Amino acid sequence: MSKQGKHKVLFVCLGNICRSPAAEGVMRAYVEQAGLTSEFAIDSAGIIGHHEGERADGRMIAHALRRGYDLTSISRPVRYDDFLDFDYIVGMDESNRSALLERAPTAEAAAKVSLLTDWHPAPTLDYVPDPYYGGSEGFERVLDLIEACVPHLVNAILQKDEQ
Ligand code: 4NP
Repeated sequence: MSKQGKHKVLFVCLGNICRSPAAEGVMRAYVEQAGLTSEFAIDSAGIIGHHEGERADGRMIAHALRRGYDLTSISRPVRYDDFLDFDYIVGMDESNRSALLERAPTAEAAAKVSLLTDWHPAPTLDYVPDPYYGGSEGFERVLDLIEACVPHLVNAILQKDEQ
């Protein structure tokens, strides 16, 4: 356990069935491999509650599984307490960011909001595109971007903890 306790990270996308479940699964695997599981609490949520109670989209589950990630999330909408409970609230695109900033109850809560690609020094794209209405290449691109960004996010969190 770090001296400040667990680092709490919430990934957010529109429906919480594609991008944020994938980010949650990739980060869980990454910190597990690094032996850091006990230092992090990782969850995901959606801007909309449309898919509440559902597992991740079957296409996202299948693409993630091919890379060794088991997506176990159950969709839920972002709630008020998330802004108090989590240290990092990490959206996937600008629309997620503006929806999160609109809902943030305080300036302190708003300061927790970022995009996943913000953490990468030179991302191939500056947002994670919604794959829901597209083909399989969209799901692969989501995983490519998430895999590229997650190590930077983890390193930044750990570095901040040491300050
Ligand atoms: P996600 O993808 O935000 O990555 O989970 C979507 C899931 C559902 C919908 C849109 C995007 N939808 O319109 O229901």
